[in-house]
Amino acid sequence: MNARKDFDRTGMPSEAPQDEPARQQYFIEKCRQYTKRFFEKKGRVPTAFIQTFGCQMNAHDSERLMGVLLAAGFARGDGEDSDFVLYNTCTVRENANQRVYGRLGHLNSLKKKNPDMLIALCGCMMQEPHVVERLRKSYRHVDIIFGTHNIYKLAELLYRRMEERSMVIDVWENTGEIVEALPGDRKFPFKSGVNIMFGCNNFCSYCIVPYVRGRERSRAPDDIVREIRELVKDGVVEVMLLGQNVNSYGKTLTPPVSFAELLKRVEGIEGLKRIRFMTPHPKDLSDELIEVMSRSDTICRHMHLPLQSGSSRILKKMNRNYTKEQYLALTEKLRRAIPDISLTTDIIVGFPGETEEDFEETLDVVRKARFDSAFTFIYSRRTGTAAAAMDGQVPDDVVKRRFDRLLKEVQEISAGVCGRDVHTVRKVLAEERDSHLDGWLTGRLSNNTIVHFAGGQELIGTIVDVYLEESRGFYYMGSLRENKMEVTDHEKAL
Ligand code: 5AD
Ligand code: SF4
Repeated sequence: MNARKDFDRTGMPSEAPQDEPARQQYFIEKCRQYTKRFFEKKGRVPTAFIQTFGCQMNAHDSERLMGVLLAAGFARGDGEDSDFVLYNTCTVRENANQRVYGRLGHLNSLKKKNPDMLIALCGCMMQEPHVVERLRKSYRHVDIIFGTHNIYKLAELLYRRMEERSMVIDVWENTGEIVEALPGDRKFPFKSGVNIMFGCNNFCSYCIVPYVRGRERSRAPDDIVREIRELVKDGVVEVMLLGQNVNSYGKTLTPPVSFAELLKRVEGIEGLKRIRFMTPHPKDLSDELIEVMSRSDTICRHMHLPLQSGSSRILKKMNRNYTKEQYLALTEKLRRAIPDISLTTDIIVGFPGETEEDFEETLDVVRKARFDSAFTFIYSRRTGTAAAAMDGQVPDDVVKRRFDRLLKEVQEISAGVCGRDVHTVRKVLAEERDSHLDGWLTGRLSNNTIVHFAGGQELIGTIVDVYLEESRGFYYMGSLRENKMEVTDHEKAL
């Protein structure tokens, strides 16, 4: 029997279709019956709340998860006292895991007050078998556990939990499948993340991502372009192309497509005003990509280029495949080709075997590359990675002192660098109401720096000309230039 041809009285197929996304649409409908019953019983719609830990990929996944929940009839809740609470977890560093365990304890007491409450966990941390084991044994109040490979199955798992009334665990080791076209819910109506690839094949020795996100899989360029066209039709002016290592995009497709080629196709989408991407790897950042960026009006003047360490010796142990000199040469090449580019980075302090000399090399790169900003991390030992088994773990107090020195250096440099556009008029995407000043807005320059300026809410989601009056280190205070006036000599002299 063909399940999809067999419908019940509500117009739904009476059996779940096998194909995606039809299968999830079926379970979304099933969940709607639950939310309807909830409403009939309690006189209100159940609320759902998602707490995201970690990176932009997770933030984007959470928007898609919320899209499914809203389609299933939930209303957006604003905290952990909601009827459905989902933690989308990160496991890049151990402290993120500890935070999740801590908050689960708190959820237990909330669930005692609201026994109908459902608690779900997903994301990178769930891909670790020892985590799931611990949850299974000691956190029985958790209702649903799933991983990174099957987030599109939320509706199905939720329905299963309601039917079976016991903990549902569904974590896959890997997948080749990419499910397109499920509902999403954007935090900002005018900008959106877009996955271009999943997983990572690099195996940097400190990093757990290749183990929890699996091997690299790229989406077909046609699917990406189609999704962005739809987003633009729906009011999006800025997209962030997401992947763990975007420079590897398309290598596994037949025929292969380079990231630079994909960018060119995305650039051609009418109505799209800004393109960002995250994250490129220094080891294979191509000249073609730099060239495409330098000619483009749409690709933003920002590159987040993780350094991790400035010591070639440590970089080798990290399996990063570039040296200090190669990294610095790359930053110079980028600045020559795109003089107004802003460079940001990630740096790890205290990798096993890091000596004072190695650390000084990192400081040296920071001084030479002059990053606009840097995310600095204390090395966290992740079970299963190559670095976890290395000798020479650096004592905590030494790491802490190096970390503080690095942070100071990074902040001093970035305060000087970030203000370089002061007293010029720049394009700003107005993003939201300013949280401190009434009647003000907060927006971003192409190079990602934040600007505060007086303006009405109707400007949110549009790109406006703003005169950057004053630099305050990491952000500007500006004023609207409604008629695109040039900067006056007087203003230049300020
Ligand atoms: N310890 C500390 N920082 C890490 N990162 C990845 N793995 C670890 C780890 N084990 C950092 C890297 C990466 C960023 C997302 O997180 O700097 O670029
Ligand atoms: Fe981790 Fe390296 Fe892959 Fe980035 S490129 S996700 S740091 S393994």
